[in-house]
Order: sequence, then C-alpha cells, then structure tokens
Amino acid sequence: MRSRFRRAFSSSVGTKLLMGLTGLALFAYMVLHLAGNALILAGPDLFNQYSHTLISNPLILPIELGLLAVFVIHIYKAITMWTANRRARPVGYLKKEMAGHTSRKSLASSTMIASGLFLLLFVIVHVKQFKFGTWYQTVGQAEIRDLYRTEVEIFQQPLWVVFYVAGTLLVGLHLRHGFTSAFQSLGIDHPVYTRKLTAIGIFFAILIGGGLAAIPVWIFFTS
Ligand code: HEM
Repeated sequence: MRSRFRRAFSSSVGTKLLMGLTGLALFAYMVLHLAGNALILAGPDLFNQYSHTLISNPLILPIELGLLAVFVIHIYKAITMWTANRRARPVGYLKKEMAGHTSRKSLASSTMIASGLFLLLFVIVHVKQFKFGTWYQTVGQAEIRDLYRTEVEIFQQPLWVVFYVAGTLLVGLHLRHGFTSAFQSLGIDHPVYTRKLTAIGIFFAILIGGGLAAIPVWIFFTS
C-alpha cells in the first residue's frame, strides 16, 4: 500500500498532478495575500487590526503548516521534474526559437525554474523580515503588534523597494505561465478554453504582480 502510494507520488502523472494542485493552491494564497495586504493603503489602524485578527485565530497554525507543506511539495516536484528533463536531454537546444502562435512557449514558460528558485530565496527573506521581524507594539483599545510600522521602516529603504518590486514582478511572470500550465497538468484543458485560460492567467499575473509591487512603491513615496 505504502509503496503503491510512493510510486503514484513519484510517477510522472503523479508529479504533474501534484504540481498543478499545489500551484493552484499557491495561486489562491497569492490572491488572498494581495487582498489582505492592500489594506495597508487604508492606514495603520485597519491594517494592524487585520493582521492581529489573522494571527490570533487558532486555525492559523494548521493553515500555516499546510501552506508550508504545499510550498515544499511544489518546489521538490519542480526540481525533480527539471532534473529528469535535463537527464533526458543533457545537451540543450543549440538554437531556441518561439514556435509560433499555437505554441505555449513564452518568456515565462522558459524561465520557470529560475524564477521559482529566486522566489524561494525571496520568500525566506520576506518571512524572516515580516513574520519574524521587528515586533513593535501599538497601544489602541488593546496592545497589539504594530506591523504597519515594521513594513513602513522596510519600504523606506530604496534597496528593499527594488528587491520587493523585482520579487513581486517575478511572481507575476511565474503565475503567467503557471496558471494555464496547472489546468493542463490536471487535464482540465480543452482547445476551446485555451485562449480564455491564457487571458485569465495574464489578467491575474498583472493583477497580483502589479498589485503587490505597487505596495512598496506607494509606501516609499508617501511615508
Ligand atoms: C510587496 C509585497 C508583499 C507584502 C507587502 C507582503 C506582506 C506580508 C506580511 C505583512 C506578512 C506577515 C503576516 C503576519 O505575520 O501577520 C507576510 C507573510 C508572508 N508572505 Fe508576504 N507580502 C508580499 C509579497 C509576498 C510574496 C510575493 C510572497 C510569495 C511569493 C509572499 C509570501 C508570504 C508568506 C509565505 C508569508 C508567511 C505567511 C504565514 O506564515 O502566515 N509574500 N507578507
């Protein structure tokens, strides 16, 4: 039973399914992350209250552990798939060309492993800086974390603004291909929907990448 599960997990179909499912879960997280963090534009009170409500929910720990598991599976499967492909074709193509309008090859699709590895580094730095970063207290009706102050301090530094804009735009590029590719991996892809799915993928890539990139820029110029 265990070895059957292990075989399914590491088969190429299992790998594709897991990549698609974990990719869509991470995509959903990014939509929620943008919606929550956009509250910073509403000022410290609302933003700190939102962050306090989030971290004081007893369900937050199991959700965070689930998110971590999804993230680890996605990265592990991406790396094993990439190394298997490299082994199958140890010498790269001499000349790379876009294959025309029916091809799904794009800048985003051919840089997935590179953008993904940068995002891994980005997430480690980001979580350390925000979640485990400087913990100020704010005294309103109750004493809660002043996450607004931590965020403003970081985004007042131009180098961090550049790092965050680069990271968030890369998220957009990664999602641009990842979104349609996930549906293809899950087999929920039909030529009739291909153009619509691609258009939806581009829309969300711009919304999430552009929306998140706007936050550090906005704080830098207004604080
Ligand atoms: C400028 C854009 C971003 C801003 C302003 C932002 C803001 C934040 C904040 C404030 C937290 C801490 C939440 C808390 O502990 O209360 C956080 C956590 C986190 N962020 Fe971001 N984020 C941004 C971009 C990203 C991107 C692009 C990713 C993923 C590629 C990401 C992934 C995460 C993760 C995984 C956590 C930890 C979640 C948890 O354990 O609860 N963030 N972010």
